[in-house]
Amino acid sequence: QASTTIAPSEPTLPAYAAAISEAADQDDTPLFSPTLISDETKATLPTGYTIRPLRRSDYFGGYLPTLRVLTTVGEPTQAEFDARYDFISSRNDTYYILVICDESGTVVGTGAVIVERKFIHNMGLVGHIEDIAVAKNQQGKKLGLRIIQALDSVAEKVGCYKSILDCSEANEGFYVKCGFKRAGLEMAHYY
Ligand code: ACO
Repeated sequence: QASTTIAPSEPTLPAYAAAISEAADQDDTPLFSPTLISDETKATLPTGYTIRPLRRSDYFGGYLPTLRVLTTVGEPTQAEFDARYDFISSRNDTYYILVICDESGTVVGTGAVIVERKFIHNMGLVGHIEDIAVAKNQQGKKLGLRIIQALDSVAEKVGCYKSILDCSEANEGFYVKCGFKRAGLEMAHYY
């Protein structure tokens, strides 16, 4: 009789559920106030989908796999994730990371806006839109557009006078559809 083994790196759904509920028993408050996410964006999501701030328990489930459609993520341990989450959470007037979940509650989209405080432009605030990702099998449902609309509205509500982002030529058309226009040129120096 064949024995069934479950790889430790592939927890079953109940294992996720148990881990999420354990995290919820601890501190699983949203990263920032959900009231910053516009009702208009919530209302235009596909039926059963939700949009909310990132939570510590998003270590489990679809958050990291969703980010992997964007770039290399690595395999952070829960302790490493929690430490980064704590850093970000202690600066939750600066980092706004949100997620979209499907009907099953699995994260299938994410994006962030980081608020830079300047001396110029009368102590102006600028939103930097970063790390936009939609799970491969969920692309084309306007989730990317909803993420950008939600981040744009967060940036406006917290007082930014503009939001900017860097993207590849291949994604220019997507951001144009989201209301952005080409402005300048990205330069990078990798270390
Ligand atoms: N080029 C041109 N138009 C596009 C593109 C593209 N690459 N992608 C989507 N669109 C169009 C859609 O056709 C749609 O147009 P319509 O309103 O006329 O129907 C509109 O843009 C909205 O598209 P969505 O369905 O919201 O796009 P989706 O949910 O698939 O998300 C995204 C787009 C985020 C680029 C997704 O494809 C993805 O995750 N790609 C891999 C990761 C990535 O490249 N992320 C962006 C990195 S840049 C940054 O993070 C700042």
